[in-house]
Amino acid sequence: MKVLVVGGGGREHALCWKLKQSPRLTRLWCAPGNAGIAGEAECVDIGAEDVDRLVDFAVARGVDLVVVGPEGPLVLGLADRLTAAGILVFGPSAAAARLEGSKGFMKDVVSQAGIPTAWYRRFTDAAAAKDFIRAKGAPIVVKTDGLAAGKGVVVAASVDEALRAVDDMMGAKVFGAAGDEVVIEEFLDGEEASLFALCDGKTAVPFGAAQDHKRVGDGDSGPNTGGMGAYSPAPVVTPALEQEAMERVFLPAVKAMAARGAPFTGVLFAGVMVTPAGMKLLEFNVRFGDPEAQVLMARLDCDLLPILAAAAAGTLEGTRPEWNAAAAMVVVMAAAGYPGPYARNTVIRGLDRAAGEPGVPVLHAGTARKDGQVVATGGRVLGITAIGETVAEAQARAYRAIDRIDWPEGFCRRDIGWRAIARA
Ligand code: AMP
Ligand code: GLY
Repeated sequence: MKVLVVGGGGREHALCWKLKQSPRLTRLWCAPGNAGIAGEAECVDIGAEDVDRLVDFAVARGVDLVVVGPEGPLVLGLADRLTAAGILVFGPSAAAARLEGSKGFMKDVVSQAGIPTAWYRRFTDAAAAKDFIRAKGAPIVVKTDGLAAGKGVVVAASVDEALRAVDDMMGAKVFGAAGDEVVIEEFLDGEEASLFALCDGKTAVPFGAAQDHKRVGDGDSGPNTGGMGAYSPAPVVTPALEQEAMERVFLPAVKAMAARGAPFTGVLFAGVMVTPAGMKLLEFNVRFGDPEAQVLMARLDCDLLPILAAAAAGTLEGTRPEWNAAAAMVVVMAAAGYPGPYARNTVIRGLDRAAGEPGVPVLHAGTARKDGQVVATGGRVLGITAIGETVAEAQARAYRAIDRIDWPEGFCRRDIGWRAIARA
């Protein structure tokens, strides 16, 4: 099969790295890719949201399967356009991608399907939203309805903070049109986990779980990021919890979307909170997590390509992905300053030395090659991904590799996996 992966981050590097191992692969492109992805795939200079050019490219090259990494192009209708052109695509239609693209829509679908989640209300009027916040009290959570690059969520400890969030989102339009509507919801306290299921429009099969580290600093301090590291399996996700997630979250969601005439295909990513009152769904994403994909791909012990193709083709029934028992960990190296402003084009050295650590793929998230050197081009730049018998062993390997990387302008957290290691 000729495959095109869309995206250029660490998640897409992980997908390309795994797809490259498939005996069924004949050709692999990635648009736009990055300096690391160029080692696995032919990078194509087309942006991930340039829908027209992506479709033209896929048609011109006779691509058999397009695997879409990020949510942006899905929300813009890339999957619909590829389907119309007769090309198999792993990733949902625009109508189904609303599960991530509109938090209000997601909450409506989820609550109507009886999926356990936080209580909520949708508002297009700021004054009404504020009255509701005052009536409910804090802690309380305020979210923009639309996509805001992961920044449209305020977990407010006080009523004042929640009211300010409404002013920022609906008044000052800090997130543009994404804040035309807000969702106000119950604060849930517990331990978060990321669960994945592959979906083909009719059914869903479990596809692993991971735990992410969203805060920028050690000890889970500082501002939220896209994710500073992850590990899989996540001990908080017991087999019983995984089963409960299939029965109470994924399968009802797939059924509800089909009933609405927007069948979901691709990967459904459930961000859940494990609370004393049981598991509750925080959010759906319509794509793999980044950096969760890196650890899932490191543990997947079977060919990825036929599985993604089966999800895309609606023939997933009976598919059982296989995992190795080992633990996988990814530690993200980011540019100093991230998630705030950071320098670009700083030179990264020692990547070959780091890759010399056995079983440690260095996955690239935001890099480019300039004048023969690898330079940092994004906030999250590298994902050092290691396998071990235990989380502690994977962690030791990942940090050994990191210590061989010479990049003074970069940093990483030093405690990725602490919850799992503390439990062991
Ligand atoms: P989201 O974009 O919906 O995943 O929200 C980003 C982060 O905000 C989540 O990963 C949680 O850490 C936090 N969060 C979102 N919703 C809630 C909630 N209802 N209660 C507590 N924390 C939340
Ligand atoms: N790591 C969280 C996400 O991809 O949304």
